[in-house]
Amino acid sequence: MIAPRILEPLTLRSLTARNRLWLPPMCMYSATAQDGAVTDWHVLHYATRAAGGFGTVVVEATAVTPEGRLSVNDLGLWDDAQVAGHARIVEAVHSQGALAGVQIGHGGRKAGTAPMRPGAKEGTVPGWELLAPSPLAFPDLAQPRELGTGEIDALVESFAAAGRRAVAAGYDLVEIHGAHGYLVHQFLSPLSNARTDAWGGSPEARRRFALEVVEAVREAVGPRTALGIRLSATDWLDGGLTGEDTAELAGLLVAAGVDVLHISSGALLPAQIPVGAGYQVHLAAQVKAAVEGMTTPGGSAPAVVAVGLITSGAQAEQILRSGQADAVAAGRAALRDPYLPVRWAHELGVDGWQDAGLPVQYWRGAYR
Ligand SMILES: Cc1cc2nc3c(=O)[nH]c(=O)nc-3n(C[C@H](O)[C@H](O)[C@H](O)COP(=O)(O)O)c2cc1C
Repeated sequence: MIAPRILEPLTLRSLTARNRLWLPPMCMYSATAQDGAVTDWHVLHYATRAAGGFGTVVVEATAVTPEGRLSVNDLGLWDDAQVAGHARIVEAVHSQGALAGVQIGHGGRKAGTAPMRPGAKEGTVPGWELLAPSPLAFPDLAQPRELGTGEIDALVESFAAAGRRAVAAGYDLVEIHGAHGYLVHQFLSPLSNARTDAWGGSPEARRRFALEVVEAVREAVGPRTALGIRLSATDWLDGGLTGEDTAELAGLLVAAGVDVLHISSGALLPAQIPVGAGYQVHLAAQVKAAVEGMTTPGGSAPAVVAVGLITSGAQAEQILRSGQADAVAAGRAALRDPYLPVRWAHELGVDGWQDAGLPVQYWRGAYR
């Protein structure tokens, strides 16, 4: 039997994912009661991708405070009452053989009260003030208020508390949302952070929030749980973050306790992005080269995940075989096909589905 690299197990701390295929976090805007709570939709959606063969299923951006939501229909982990719903997702994902992760985040100046799902009802919660490192608005969004230092400390603690709740729900992996122009990214980028105190002004000061969040969440989640961070490796803008900046940051993040670096790009501001097949893979490769040979505090090698228009088994396989990343994530392709790993395994000529941990129930559907 052919043994593709995409189906090799991936070890993160004490945990092993059955393969190297990730469902990346994707907002479903389906917390319909606008209370951040998991619904049947979420349980079904994530369990289906686990049944489809993904080794690691990462639940969408989940807010660490109500004001950190990107829409009123986002999930949350700001309240202990939200843990039970997440435990349902975890149980369902585990029952289908995948590791379960959750992305925790805060929108900062890009937070929003509007529903984002087409056809969704208008938000019924009152609007809230946007908070950001600096009073620099995202185009067409409201002016944010600059965070005070006490508020920054409180936000670090909100991330830690959300991490603790994620562990209480049973998640194997907590991914900090440090990408796409949201709060952590807003601190990192010189284009959104104009502070001159301990939180801005130099690369070290701009990185402080990300590193404090990592350290606090690492401490909160305990030794068993894998900790990841998603980064926008480049802003694709003059004067913004570059792949080199992010490669340098990656080593600091690993030293601070990160096991997984999930490499995306952009969305700090509207920018021309050269979107095409695998358009962010070179950025993952740059980060991977920077952390090569490092060991995480958990004792394993840091894993780098590539994402962005990876749409075929052959492409995914090539990314892993060429050493550009340790795992690949497929987002939109998995929205249209939850059984993508099955399709890719078939495409690569895999015949031992049971050994590969793929759903044998669908074997008969693979060929004609
Ligand atoms: C509907 C939708 C929701 C998304 N929500 C998130 C999110 O919650 N967190 C995040 O980091 N990225 C989010 N993304 C970005 C995806 O995780 C992924 O990085 C992006 O779609 C590129 O990968 P792809 O070409 O495989 O889809 C979202 C993308 C889509 C299409």
